[in-house]
Amino acid sequence: MLDQLKELEQQARELEPEEPQRRQLSRQVEAYAEAFYRELPEAKTYIPDYQTAGEVLDTEFDEEPADLDPILKELRKTTDRPGINTASGGHIGYIPGGGLFTSALGDYLAAVTNRYAGVHYTSPGAVNIERRLIRWMADLTGYPDTAGGYLASGGSIANLTAIITAREAVGLHPVDYEKTVVYVSGQTHHCIDRALRIAGMAVATQRFIPVDEKFRMDTDALEEAIKEDMRAGLKPWMIVGTAGTTDTGAVDPLRRQGDLAEKFGLWFHVDAAYGGFFLLVDELKPMFDGIQLSDSVVLDPHKGLFLPYGIGAVILKDERLMAGAYSYEASYMQDIQERQTVLSPADTSPELSKHFRGLRMWLPLKLHGISAFRSALKEKYLLARYAREKLAAIKDIETGPEPDLSVTLFRYLPKDGDPEECNQRLHQYILDDGRVYLSSTRIDGKYMLRVAVLSVRTHINTIEVLSEVVKQGIAHIRQ
Ligand SMILES: Cc1ncc(COP(=O)(O)O)c(C=O)c1O
Repeated sequence: MLDQLKELEQQARELEPEEPQRRQLSRQVEAYAEAFYRELPEAKTYIPDYQTAGEVLDTEFDEEPADLDPILKELRKTTDRPGINTASGGHIGYIPGGGLFTSALGDYLAAVTNRYAGVHYTSPGAVNIERRLIRWMADLTGYPDTAGGYLASGGSIANLTAIITAREAVGLHPVDYEKTVVYVSGQTHHCIDRALRIAGMAVATQRFIPVDEKFRMDTDALEEAIKEDMRAGLKPWMIVGTAGTTDTGAVDPLRRQGDLAEKFGLWFHVDAAYGGFFLLVDELKPMFDGIQLSDSVVLDPHKGLFLPYGIGAVILKDERLMAGAYSYEASYMQDIQERQTVLSPADTSPELSKHFRGLRMWLPLKLHGISAFRSALKEKYLLARYAREKLAAIKDIETGPEPDLSVTLFRYLPKDGDPEECNQRLHQYILDDGRVYLSSTRIDGKYMLRVAVLSVRTHINTIEVLSEVVKQGIAHIRQ
Protein backbone atom coordinates (compact mmCIF):
# COMPACT_ATOMS: atom_id res chain seq x y z
CA MET A 1 0.00 0.00 0.00
CA LEU A 2 2.83 2.42 0.84
CA ASP A 3 4.31 1.95 -2.61
CA GLN A 4 0.94 2.63 -4.17
CA LEU A 5 0.46 5.73 -2.05
CA LYS A 6 3.88 7.06 -3.08
CA GLU A 7 3.11 6.46 -6.71
CA LEU A 8 -0.28 8.17 -6.44
CA GLU A 9 1.30 11.10 -4.62
CA GLN A 10 3.82 11.42 -7.42
CA GLN A 11 1.10 11.37 -10.09
CA ALA A 12 -1.12 13.83 -8.18
CA ARG A 13 1.76 16.33 -7.94
CA GLU A 14 0.64 17.59 -11.31
CA LEU A 15 -2.10 19.41 -9.33
CA GLU A 16 0.45 21.37 -7.29
CA PRO A 17 2.79 23.34 -9.57
CA GLU A 18 6.12 24.37 -8.03
CA GLU A 19 7.15 28.01 -7.77
CA PRO A 20 8.83 28.33 -11.22
CA GLN A 21 5.79 26.76 -12.86
CA ARG A 22 3.42 28.94 -10.83
CA ARG A 23 5.28 32.03 -11.93
CA GLN A 24 5.18 30.91 -15.53
CA LEU A 25 1.42 30.23 -15.38
CA SER A 26 0.84 33.59 -13.70
CA ARG A 27 2.82 35.34 -16.41
CA GLN A 28 0.72 33.69 -19.12
CA VAL A 29 -2.54 34.65 -17.41
CA GLU A 30 -1.26 38.17 -16.86
CA ALA A 31 -0.32 38.47 -20.53
CA TYR A 32 -3.80 37.28 -21.47
CA ALA A 33 -5.44 39.83 -19.15
CA GLU A 34 -3.27 42.66 -20.47
CA ALA A 35 -4.07 41.77 -24.08
CA PHE A 36 -7.76 41.78 -23.14
CA TYR A 37 -7.48 45.25 -21.59
CA ARG A 38 -5.40 46.56 -24.51
CA GLU A 39 -8.00 45.48 -27.04
CA LEU A 40 -11.00 46.53 -24.95
CA PRO A 41 -11.41 50.16 -26.14
CA GLU A 42 -11.63 49.06 -29.79
CA ALA A 43 -13.41 45.73 -29.23
CA LYS A 44 -17.00 45.31 -30.41
CA THR A 45 -19.55 45.34 -27.61
CA TYR A 46 -21.66 42.66 -29.25
CA ILE A 47 -20.62 39.65 -31.29
CA PRO A 48 -23.64 37.42 -31.97
CA ASP A 49 -21.52 34.35 -32.71
CA TYR A 50 -23.34 31.60 -30.86
CA GLN A 51 -21.87 28.89 -33.04
CA THR A 52 -18.28 29.46 -31.94
CA ALA A 53 -19.42 29.72 -28.33
CA GLY A 54 -21.06 26.32 -28.80
CA GLU A 55 -17.70 24.72 -29.57
CA VAL A 56 -16.88 24.53 -25.86
CA LEU A 57 -19.65 21.99 -25.51
CA ASP A 58 -17.47 19.57 -27.45
CA THR A 59 -14.35 20.23 -25.36
CA GLU A 60 -12.56 17.04 -24.44
CA PHE A 61 -11.05 16.61 -20.98
CA ASP A 62 -7.90 14.63 -21.67
CA GLU A 63 -6.30 12.26 -19.20
CA GLU A 64 -2.95 13.99 -19.69
CA PRO A 65 -1.87 17.56 -18.85
CA ALA A 66 -1.87 20.28 -21.50
CA ASP A 67 -0.20 23.66 -22.10
CA LEU A 68 -1.95 26.78 -20.87
CA ASP A 69 -1.55 28.96 -23.97
CA PRO A 70 -3.78 26.90 -26.32
CA ILE A 71 -6.36 26.69 -23.54
CA LEU A 72 -6.36 30.48 -23.20
CA LYS A 73 -6.61 30.77 -26.95
CA GLU A 74 -9.71 28.59 -26.90
CA LEU A 75 -11.13 30.69 -24.05
CA ARG A 76 -10.66 33.89 -26.02
CA LYS A 77 -12.28 32.47 -29.12
CA THR A 78 -15.26 30.67 -27.59
CA THR A 79 -15.93 32.64 -24.44
CA ASP A 80 -14.42 36.09 -24.24
CA ARG A 81 -15.54 37.26 -27.68
CA PRO A 82 -19.04 35.93 -28.44
CA GLY A 83 -22.04 37.66 -26.86
CA ILE A 84 -22.09 41.04 -25.13
CA ASN A 85 -18.73 42.42 -24.08
CA THR A 86 -19.84 43.31 -20.56
CA ALA A 87 -16.38 44.64 -19.66
CA SER A 88 -16.60 47.28 -22.40
CA GLY A 89 -17.49 50.90 -21.71
CA GLY A 90 -19.72 50.64 -24.80
CA HIS A 91 -22.01 48.33 -22.82
CA ILE A 92 -24.86 50.63 -21.91
CA GLY A 93 -27.60 48.00 -21.95
CA TYR A 94 -29.32 46.20 -19.03
CA ILE A 95 -27.42 47.25 -15.87
CA PRO A 96 -23.69 47.25 -16.61
CA GLY A 97 -20.80 47.60 -14.16
CA GLY A 98 -17.64 46.93 -16.10
CA GLY A 99 -15.61 44.94 -13.58
CA LEU A 100 -12.69 46.49 -11.70
CA PHE A 101 -9.27 44.94 -12.25
CA THR A 102 -8.41 45.36 -8.58
CA SER A 103 -11.51 43.38 -7.65
CA ALA A 104 -10.26 40.54 -9.85
CA LEU A 105 -7.03 40.65 -7.85
CA GLY A 106 -9.07 40.38 -4.66
CA ASP A 107 -10.81 37.29 -6.06
CA TYR A 108 -7.48 35.82 -7.02
CA LEU A 109 -6.09 36.26 -3.51
CA ALA A 110 -9.30 34.92 -1.95
CA ALA A 111 -8.98 31.81 -4.10
CA VAL A 112 -5.25 31.38 -3.39
CA THR A 113 -5.62 31.64 0.38
CA ASN A 114 -8.96 29.83 0.24
CA ARG A 115 -10.20 31.25 3.55
CA TYR A 116 -13.41 29.61 4.68
CA ALA A 117 -15.59 32.70 4.82
CA GLY A 118 -18.74 30.97 6.07
CA VAL A 119 -17.79 30.76 9.72
CA HIS A 120 -16.05 33.20 12.08
CA TYR A 121 -14.33 30.43 14.07
CA THR A 122 -12.52 29.11 11.01
CA SER A 123 -11.69 32.44 9.39
CA PRO A 124 -12.28 35.33 11.76
CA GLY A 125 -10.50 37.89 9.58
CA ALA A 126 -12.45 37.03 6.44
CA VAL A 127 -15.78 37.07 8.25
CA ASN A 128 -14.84 40.34 9.96
CA ILE A 129 -13.91 41.93 6.62
CA GLU A 130 -17.35 41.00 5.31
CA ARG A 131 -18.98 42.28 8.51
CA ARG A 132 -17.06 45.54 8.11
CA LEU A 133 -18.27 45.93 4.52
CA ILE A 134 -21.84 45.26 5.60
CA ARG A 135 -21.46 47.84 8.35
CA TRP A 136 -20.17 50.36 5.80
CA MET A 137 -23.21 49.78 3.61
CA ALA A 138 -25.50 49.87 6.66
CA ASP A 139 -24.05 53.29 7.51
CA LEU A 140 -24.62 54.41 3.94
CA THR A 141 -28.24 53.33 4.27
CA GLY A 142 -28.64 54.99 7.67
CA TYR A 143 -29.23 51.76 9.61
CA PRO A 144 -28.55 51.54 13.38
CA ASP A 145 -25.97 49.32 15.15
CA THR A 146 -28.39 46.40 15.21
CA ALA A 147 -28.02 45.93 11.45
CA GLY A 148 -26.28 43.02 9.80
CA GLY A 149 -26.32 41.28 6.47
CA TYR A 150 -24.85 38.90 3.99
CA LEU A 151 -22.80 39.19 0.82
CA ALA A 152 -24.66 37.05 -1.68
CA SER A 153 -23.77 36.28 -5.28
CA GLY A 154 -25.99 39.02 -6.70
CA GLY A 155 -29.16 41.05 -6.37
CA SER A 156 -31.61 38.24 -7.01
CA ILE A 157 -30.25 36.02 -4.25
CA ALA A 158 -29.91 39.02 -1.94
CA ASN A 159 -33.60 39.89 -2.47
CA LEU A 160 -34.58 36.24 -1.94
CA THR A 161 -32.60 36.19 1.31
CA ALA A 162 -34.46 39.28 2.52
CA ILE A 163 -37.87 37.94 1.60
CA ILE A 164 -37.34 34.65 3.41
CA THR A 165 -36.03 36.52 6.45
CA ALA A 166 -39.13 38.72 6.42
CA ARG A 167 -41.43 35.72 6.05
CA GLU A 168 -39.85 34.04 9.08
CA ALA A 169 -39.64 37.26 11.10
CA VAL A 170 -43.35 37.87 10.77
CA GLY A 171 -44.10 34.20 11.40
CA LEU A 172 -46.09 33.66 8.22
CA HIS A 173 -47.21 30.07 7.70
CA PRO A 174 -48.39 28.40 4.49
CA VAL A 175 -52.01 28.67 5.63
CA ASP A 176 -51.58 32.46 5.68
CA TYR A 177 -50.04 32.85 2.23
CA GLU A 178 -53.27 33.03 0.27
CA LYS A 179 -54.37 36.07 2.27
CA THR A 180 -50.96 37.73 2.24
CA VAL A 181 -50.43 40.82 0.09
CA VAL A 182 -47.15 42.23 -1.23
CA TYR A 183 -47.19 45.75 -2.71
CA VAL A 184 -45.05 46.24 -5.81
CA SER A 185 -45.25 48.33 -8.96
CA GLY A 186 -45.00 47.44 -12.62
CA GLN A 187 -41.38 48.64 -12.37
CA THR A 188 -40.39 46.23 -9.58
CA HIS A 189 -37.65 43.84 -10.72
CA HIS A 190 -38.92 40.36 -11.56
CA CYS A 191 -36.57 38.78 -9.02
CA ILE A 192 -39.08 39.77 -6.33
CA ASP A 193 -41.80 37.73 -8.01
CA ARG A 194 -39.35 34.86 -8.39
CA ALA A 195 -38.24 35.15 -4.76
CA LEU A 196 -41.84 34.91 -3.61
CA ARG A 197 -42.31 31.79 -5.70
CA ILE A 198 -39.09 30.22 -4.40
CA ALA A 199 -40.19 31.14 -0.87
CA GLY A 200 -43.30 29.02 -1.49
CA MET A 201 -45.51 32.11 -1.60
CA ALA A 202 -46.70 32.03 -5.20
CA VAL A 203 -50.29 32.12 -3.97
CA ALA A 204 -49.77 35.42 -2.16
CA THR A 205 -51.23 38.46 -3.94
CA GLN A 206 -48.83 40.85 -5.59
CA ARG A 207 -50.70 44.13 -5.72
CA PHE A 208 -49.37 46.20 -8.61
CA ILE A 209 -49.58 49.85 -7.60
CA PRO A 210 -49.60 52.35 -10.47
CA VAL A 211 -46.62 54.62 -11.11
CA ASP A 212 -46.49 58.35 -11.85
CA GLU A 213 -45.12 59.96 -15.02
CA LYS A 214 -41.57 59.46 -13.72
CA PHE A 215 -42.21 55.75 -13.06
CA ARG A 216 -42.24 56.15 -9.27
CA MET A 217 -44.83 54.29 -7.21
CA ASP A 218 -47.98 56.34 -6.61
CA THR A 219 -48.11 56.26 -2.82
CA ASP A 220 -51.67 57.64 -2.57
CA ALA A 221 -52.78 54.64 -4.59
CA LEU A 222 -50.62 52.47 -2.33
CA GLU A 223 -52.35 53.72 0.82
CA GLU A 224 -55.74 53.21 -0.75
CA ALA A 225 -54.84 49.66 -1.80
CA ILE A 226 -53.61 48.75 1.70
CA LYS A 227 -56.81 50.06 3.28
CA GLU A 228 -58.96 48.24 0.79
CA ASP A 229 -57.11 44.97 1.33
CA MET A 230 -57.53 45.34 5.08
CA ARG A 231 -61.23 45.96 4.65
CA ALA A 232 -61.42 42.83 2.49
CA GLY A 233 -59.88 40.76 5.31
CA LEU A 234 -56.55 40.23 3.55
CA LYS A 235 -53.18 40.51 5.27
CA PRO A 236 -51.01 43.31 3.89
CA TRP A 237 -47.45 42.13 4.61
CA MET A 238 -44.75 43.89 2.65
CA ILE A 239 -44.13 47.05 0.65
CA VAL A 240 -41.35 46.64 -1.90
CA GLY A 241 -39.82 50.00 -2.76
CA THR A 242 -37.27 50.30 -5.52
CA ALA A 243 -34.39 52.76 -5.32
CA GLY A 244 -33.41 52.75 -8.97
CA THR A 245 -35.74 50.72 -11.18
CA THR A 246 -34.11 48.60 -13.84
CA ASP A 247 -36.12 49.88 -16.78
CA THR A 248 -36.13 53.58 -16.02
CA GLY A 249 -33.79 54.23 -13.08
CA ALA A 250 -36.61 55.74 -11.03
CA VAL A 251 -36.41 56.06 -7.25
CA ASP A 252 -39.70 55.43 -5.47
CA PRO A 253 -40.91 57.91 -2.80
CA LEU A 254 -39.18 55.93 -0.08
CA ARG A 255 -40.11 58.13 2.86
CA ARG A 256 -43.79 57.94 2.11
CA GLN A 257 -43.53 54.18 1.53
CA GLY A 258 -41.70 53.85 4.86
CA ASP A 259 -44.30 55.96 6.67
CA LEU A 260 -47.11 53.85 5.26
CA ALA A 261 -45.32 50.65 6.26
CA GLU A 262 -45.05 51.96 9.79
CA LYS A 263 -48.62 53.25 9.89
CA PHE A 264 -50.08 49.91 8.82
CA GLY A 265 -47.49 47.64 10.43
CA LEU A 266 -46.00 46.28 7.20
CA TRP A 267 -42.48 45.12 6.41
CA PHE A 268 -40.66 47.64 4.23
CA HIS A 269 -38.13 46.19 1.82
CA VAL A 270 -36.09 48.36 -0.54
CA ASP A 271 -34.50 46.93 -3.65
CA ALA A 272 -31.59 49.33 -4.19
CA ALA A 273 -29.62 46.75 -6.17
CA TYR A 274 -29.02 49.15 -9.03
CA GLY A 275 -29.37 52.55 -7.39
CA GLY A 276 -28.09 52.12 -3.83
CA PHE A 277 -24.51 53.25 -4.29
CA PHE A 278 -25.64 56.61 -5.71
CA LEU A 279 -26.07 57.36 -2.00
CA LEU A 280 -22.35 58.13 -2.15
CA VAL A 281 -23.11 61.21 -4.28
CA ASP A 282 -24.07 64.03 -1.92
CA GLU A 283 -26.42 65.77 -4.37
CA LEU A 284 -28.39 62.57 -4.89
CA LYS A 285 -28.70 61.58 -1.25
CA PRO A 286 -31.98 63.48 -0.62
CA MET A 287 -33.69 61.36 -3.28
CA PHE A 288 -33.08 58.31 -1.08
CA ASP A 289 -34.57 59.86 2.04
CA GLY A 290 -36.69 57.21 3.73
CA ILE A 291 -34.44 54.28 2.84
CA GLN A 292 -33.40 54.29 6.50
CA LEU A 293 -36.99 53.44 7.44
CA SER A 294 -36.78 50.11 5.64
CA ASP A 295 -36.48 46.78 7.42
CA SER A 296 -34.29 45.30 4.72
CA VAL A 297 -32.36 46.63 1.76
CA VAL A 298 -30.40 45.19 -1.16
CA LEU A 299 -27.40 46.92 -2.76
CA ASP A 300 -25.38 45.35 -5.56
CA PRO A 301 -21.65 46.09 -5.56
CA HIS A 302 -21.44 44.33 -8.94
CA LYS A 303 -23.51 47.18 -10.29
CA GLY A 304 -22.91 50.45 -8.43
CA LEU A 305 -19.36 49.73 -7.29
CA PHE A 306 -18.33 48.40 -10.72
CA LEU A 307 -17.18 45.03 -9.34
CA PRO A 308 -17.15 41.94 -11.56
CA TYR A 309 -20.32 39.84 -11.43
CA GLY A 310 -20.79 37.78 -8.31
CA ILE A 311 -21.63 40.04 -5.38
CA GLY A 312 -24.91 41.47 -4.08
CA ALA A 313 -25.53 42.59 -0.52
CA VAL A 314 -28.61 42.23 1.65
CA ILE A 315 -28.80 44.18 4.88
CA LEU A 316 -31.36 43.75 7.64
CA LYS A 317 -32.03 46.47 10.13
CA ASP A 318 -32.08 43.76 12.80
CA GLU A 319 -29.42 41.14 12.13
CA ARG A 320 -30.94 38.70 14.63
CA LEU A 321 -33.89 38.20 12.29
CA MET A 322 -31.53 36.66 9.76
CA ALA A 323 -30.30 34.20 12.35
CA GLY A 324 -33.96 33.43 13.08
CA ALA A 325 -34.43 32.43 9.47
CA TYR A 326 -31.13 30.70 8.73
CA SER A 327 -29.27 29.48 11.83
CA TYR A 328 -28.93 25.75 12.33
CA GLU A 329 -27.40 23.12 14.55
CA ALA A 330 -25.65 19.95 13.52
CA SER A 331 -23.50 17.50 15.46
CA TYR A 332 -20.61 17.78 13.01
CA MET A 333 -20.58 21.54 13.67
CA GLN A 334 -20.30 21.25 17.46
CA ASP A 335 -16.68 22.53 17.66
CA ILE A 336 -17.70 25.64 15.78
CA GLN A 337 -20.95 26.26 17.57
CA GLU A 338 -19.36 26.01 21.02
CA ARG A 339 -16.81 28.68 20.07
CA GLN A 340 -19.14 30.99 18.21
CA THR A 341 -18.87 34.59 19.37
CA VAL A 342 -20.33 36.56 16.45
CA LEU A 343 -22.88 35.74 13.78
CA SER A 344 -21.30 34.32 10.64
CA PRO A 345 -22.62 34.11 7.06
CA ALA A 346 -23.48 30.47 7.84
CA ASP A 347 -25.96 31.76 10.47
CA THR A 348 -27.43 34.57 8.43
CA SER A 349 -27.70 33.05 4.95
CA PRO A 350 -28.40 29.77 3.16
CA GLU A 351 -24.65 29.21 2.57
CA LEU A 352 -22.15 27.21 4.61
CA SER A 353 -18.88 26.71 2.71
CA LYS A 354 -18.52 30.11 1.21
CA HIS A 355 -16.19 31.94 -1.15
CA PHE A 356 -14.51 34.91 0.52
CA ARG A 357 -16.51 37.36 -1.61
CA GLY A 358 -15.75 40.31 0.58
CA LEU A 359 -12.14 40.56 -0.58
CA ARG A 360 -13.20 41.52 -4.13
CA MET A 361 -14.96 44.55 -2.61
CA TRP A 362 -12.65 45.34 0.32
CA LEU A 363 -9.50 45.53 -1.79
CA PRO A 364 -10.77 48.12 -4.33
CA LEU A 365 -12.35 50.25 -1.58
CA LYS A 366 -9.11 50.27 0.42
CA LEU A 367 -6.87 50.73 -2.59
CA HIS A 368 -8.71 53.39 -4.58
CA GLY A 369 -10.45 55.23 -1.75
CA ILE A 370 -14.13 56.18 -1.67
CA SER A 371 -13.68 59.48 -3.46
CA ALA A 372 -12.89 57.76 -6.79
CA PHE A 373 -16.16 55.80 -6.54
CA ARG A 374 -18.07 58.95 -5.67
CA SER A 375 -16.65 60.72 -8.72
CA ALA A 376 -17.32 57.79 -11.04
CA LEU A 377 -20.94 57.55 -9.85
CA LYS A 378 -21.53 61.26 -10.29
CA GLU A 379 -19.95 61.00 -13.74
CA LYS A 380 -22.41 58.21 -14.68
CA TYR A 381 -25.34 60.24 -13.39
CA LEU A 382 -24.32 63.27 -15.47
CA LEU A 383 -23.53 61.14 -18.51
CA ALA A 384 -27.10 59.82 -18.57
CA ARG A 385 -28.36 63.42 -18.61
CA TYR A 386 -25.86 64.32 -21.29
CA ALA A 387 -27.00 61.31 -23.34
CA ARG A 388 -30.61 62.43 -22.99
CA GLU A 389 -29.70 65.95 -24.19
CA LYS A 390 -27.70 64.64 -27.14
CA LEU A 391 -30.48 62.28 -28.16
CA ALA A 392 -33.19 64.91 -27.74
CA ALA A 393 -31.27 67.10 -30.20
CA ILE A 394 -31.61 64.46 -32.93
CA LYS A 395 -34.53 65.06 -35.26
CA ASP A 396 -37.56 62.82 -34.58
CA ILE A 397 -36.15 61.36 -31.36
CA GLU A 398 -38.45 61.34 -28.36
CA THR A 399 -36.78 60.99 -24.96
CA GLY A 400 -38.20 59.72 -21.69
CA PRO A 401 -38.38 61.85 -18.52
CA GLU A 402 -35.27 63.37 -16.99
CA PRO A 403 -33.56 60.45 -15.25
CA ASP A 404 -33.47 60.14 -11.45
CA LEU A 405 -30.19 58.24 -11.71
CA SER A 406 -28.32 56.95 -14.77
CA VAL A 407 -30.88 55.24 -17.01
CA THR A 408 -32.59 57.17 -19.77
CA LEU A 409 -35.05 56.12 -22.48
CA PHE A 410 -35.64 57.17 -26.05
CA ARG A 411 -37.32 56.13 -29.25
CA TYR A 412 -37.47 57.20 -32.85
CA LEU A 413 -40.79 58.70 -33.91
CA PRO A 414 -40.83 58.64 -37.71
CA LYS A 415 -43.04 61.04 -39.66
CA ASP A 416 -44.57 58.03 -41.26
CA GLY A 417 -44.09 54.33 -40.69
CA ASP A 418 -44.76 52.11 -37.71
CA PRO A 419 -42.78 53.32 -34.65
CA GLU A 420 -42.56 49.78 -33.30
CA GLU A 421 -40.99 48.42 -36.47
CA CYS A 422 -38.74 51.48 -36.96
CA ASN A 423 -37.37 51.25 -33.41
CA GLN A 424 -36.73 47.55 -33.75
CA ARG A 425 -34.80 48.30 -36.92
CA LEU A 426 -32.92 51.12 -35.23
CA HIS A 427 -32.04 48.82 -32.35
CA GLN A 428 -30.80 46.15 -34.75
CA TYR A 429 -28.72 48.73 -36.61
CA ILE A 430 -27.04 49.74 -33.32
CA LEU A 431 -26.36 46.11 -32.42
CA ASP A 432 -24.92 45.37 -35.86
CA ASP A 433 -22.68 48.44 -35.66
CA GLY A 434 -21.34 47.00 -32.38
CA ARG A 435 -19.64 50.09 -30.96
CA VAL A 436 -22.24 50.42 -28.21
CA TYR A 437 -24.68 47.86 -26.86
CA LEU A 438 -28.19 49.03 -25.96
CA SER A 439 -31.09 46.98 -24.61
CA SER A 440 -34.73 47.66 -25.34
CA THR A 441 -37.84 47.57 -23.20
CA ARG A 442 -41.53 48.21 -23.41
CA ILE A 443 -43.08 51.11 -21.51
CA ASP A 444 -46.87 51.40 -21.61
CA GLY A 445 -46.78 49.08 -24.59
CA LYS A 446 -44.25 51.25 -26.47
CA TYR A 447 -40.97 49.80 -27.70
CA MET A 448 -38.24 51.97 -26.16
CA LEU A 449 -34.46 51.93 -26.22
CA ARG A 450 -32.63 52.24 -22.92
CA VAL A 451 -29.31 53.89 -22.18
CA ALA A 452 -28.00 52.55 -18.86
CA VAL A 453 -24.79 54.25 -17.84
CA LEU A 454 -23.06 52.38 -15.07
CA SER A 455 -19.96 50.80 -16.52
CA VAL A 456 -16.82 52.19 -14.98
CA ARG A 457 -15.46 52.46 -18.55
CA THR A 458 -18.34 54.51 -19.99
CA HIS A 459 -17.25 58.10 -20.53
CA ILE A 460 -18.16 61.13 -22.69
CA ASN A 461 -16.77 59.48 -25.84
CA THR A 462 -19.24 56.57 -25.46
CA ILE A 463 -22.14 59.02 -25.51
CA GLU A 464 -20.71 60.78 -28.57
CA VAL A 465 -20.50 57.42 -30.33
CA LEU A 466 -24.06 56.59 -29.25
CA SER A 467 -25.35 59.86 -30.70
CA GLU A 468 -23.48 59.26 -33.94
CA VAL A 469 -24.68 55.70 -34.38
CA VAL A 470 -28.31 56.68 -33.64
CA LYS A 471 -28.10 59.38 -36.32
CA GLN A 472 -26.59 56.91 -38.77
CA GLY A 473 -29.25 54.32 -37.88
CA ILE A 474 -32.06 56.79 -38.56
CA ALA A 475 -30.51 57.81 -41.88
CA HIS A 476 -30.27 54.12 -42.79
CA ILE A 477 -33.94 53.47 -41.93
CA ARG A 478 -35.04 56.52 -43.93
CA GLN A 479 -33.25 55.33 -47.08
C1 LIG B 1 -33.40 46.78 -9.36
C2 LIG B 1 -32.80 45.42 -9.54
N1 LIG B 1 -33.03 44.47 -8.62
C3 LIG B 1 -32.53 43.24 -8.74
C4 LIG B 1 -31.74 42.88 -9.81
C5 LIG B 1 -31.21 41.49 -9.94
O1 LIG B 1 -29.84 41.50 -9.66
P1 LIG B 1 -28.87 40.35 -10.18
O2 LIG B 1 -28.90 40.41 -11.67
O3 LIG B 1 -27.56 40.71 -9.58
O4 LIG B 1 -29.38 39.05 -9.67
C6 LIG B 1 -31.48 43.84 -10.80
C7 LIG B 1 -30.68 43.50 -11.98
O5 LIG B 1 -30.48 44.27 -12.88
C8 LIG B 1 -32.02 45.14 -10.66
O6 LIG B 1 -31.79 46.10 -11.57
